[in-house]
Amino acid sequence: MSTHSIPQEVARRRTFAIISHPDAGKTTLTEKLLLFAGAIQIAGSVKARKASRHASSDWMEIEKQRGISVASSVMQMEYRDCVINLLDTPGHQDFSEDTYRVLTAVDAALMVIDAANGVEPQTIRLLQVCRARNTPIITFINKMDREVQEPLDLLAEIESHLGMDAVPFSWPVGMGKSFGGVFDIRRNRMRIFRAGQQRRNNDEDIIDGLDNPEISRRFGSAFDKAKEEIDLLQDAAPAFEHEAFLAGKQTPVFFGSAINNFGVQEVLDTLVEWAPKPGARQALQRVVQPDETKFSGVVFKVQANMDPAHRDRVAFVRVSSGRFERGMRLKVSRTGKEIRPNNVVSFLSQRRDLLDEAYAGDVIGIPNHGVLQLGDVLTEGETLQFTGLPFFAPELFQGVEVKDPLRTKQLRTGLTQLGEEGAIQVFRPQAAGGALLLGAVGQLQFEVVAHRLKTEYGADARMIPSRYTMARWVTSENPKALKKFIDSNAAHIAYDVVDALAFLITSPAQLRVAQELNPEINFHAMREHG
Ligand code: G4P
Repeated sequence: MSTHSIPQEVARRRTFAIISHPDAGKTTLTEKLLLFAGAIQIAGSVKARKASRHASSDWMEIEKQRGISVASSVMQMEYRDCVINLLDTPGHQDFSEDTYRVLTAVDAALMVIDAANGVEPQTIRLLQVCRARNTPIITFINKMDREVQEPLDLLAEIESHLGMDAVPFSWPVGMGKSFGGVFDIRRNRMRIFRAGQQRRNNDEDIIDGLDNPEISRRFGSAFDKAKEEIDLLQDAAPAFEHEAFLAGKQTPVFFGSAINNFGVQEVLDTLVEWAPKPGARQALQRVVQPDETKFSGVVFKVQANMDPAHRDRVAFVRVSSGRFERGMRLKVSRTGKEIRPNNVVSFLSQRRDLLDEAYAGDVIGIPNHGVLQLGDVLTEGETLQFTGLPFFAPELFQGVEVKDPLRTKQLRTGLTQLGEEGAIQVFRPQAAGGALLLGAVGQLQFEVVAHRLKTEYGADARMIPSRYTMARWVTSENPKALKKFIDSNAAHIAYDVVDALAFLITSPAQLRVAQELNPEINFHAMREHG
């Protein structure tokens, strides 16, 4: 058992996720973070896993890889006496609502940007979730070893997309072939770039002082330009304020090249020095402090496990308070049921004892057969309900019908359960005779659901193209106005799995018109669970 007290354990936790657009370098950086923290010895292992995961878009292949993807969906490492939890946010065709929900379980986010492409669409979607929660964001601008955009332009782009001040902690000297390294603005020294390091290297090459003639001699015009820009920034850019960063109003910006191990150390150090420890969480009943002695935690993700025939699920629980120990008795607040998780799923970690107990900020994986649902709260007995687990309005829709009408019941049961699990959103149109509609944020969600309906529920489903492209949950203070809205839009009204009212939309213009015509109706792109 840990020799630290609960408050000490909480104080050394840092829990974050990486957000990025596919190919910006998330996998590479993840691997380098693990390497620098000493959690893995040789670069290449995370990368290999990604390669196998994406070798085929065939669902069966993905299914086979699931055991691995459960283990790598939380990576725990120790660095400078901190325990760092890195939660994976699936990207590419894996992109799904889970990706969004993972962001509700972290205390900070690391945004990786490809310096050639700037801020890309997938990053923007994820940023919206962070912004809604004021999650502090650290920015890493990757691939400086390539010919990329001008750093000042990148900075402006980040500011406009994030709606927050970007405060450079480092500044690049040159780029592409002439990339000389980064100037550490805060420490007033330059770190020289060396390409192609496969392993962590301690003998860093550092030159002190912005006015040091040695830098000017070695990097000539690239340095003159960088110096001019740094001078400009020092006059124009706001000073870094820790409080502003924690409130999601400023983002520290680093430049680097993950594949060359360059800039990785700075990111780790920033996580340890500036990123927040786990904070208090608001429950409906009271505020829960992370260093309370009693355990509490929330299920933020449910993933079907290796054996679909047994409806095995792993519930991912983010610890909110207290200490978790294997075999302790826990109560599910929603149902009052007791569970005693013994065979907790292990995630990637370099130390056994880190797996055996968990504190606020950590994630535990509890295998179960459907006892645990998204948003469930586990405690040592107290009834607690946390708000804030979001469901996001889907962007992709398909109608669903069962091929054999005698299996209609199985289809309904399957969809209800998969809907509760958060694998997909299910909408029941108000109009009689309308097929059930599935809503997703990633295409793969449809494939997963069709496969699971067949193998787990014996319902062979047919997907039907849908004309809808958006949905908004609707509410109103005025019941009359709500009724009028429902009546006049009857063909577009549907109910989701918890009977929340939704408006199905075919185009942004339709939404705009509806908003103008119905000022008393609120249109929500997000619904909170619980
Ligand atoms: P992702 O998880 O965000 O999708 O990105 P990933 O790390 O897989 O990186 C995408 C591509 O970018 C990879 O190349 C990777 O090697 C490359 N990359 C990552 N960091 C850097 C960097 O700092 N500089 C340069 N020049 N490239 C970088 P790939 O060709 O797709 O894969 P591979 O053949 O290298 O494995």
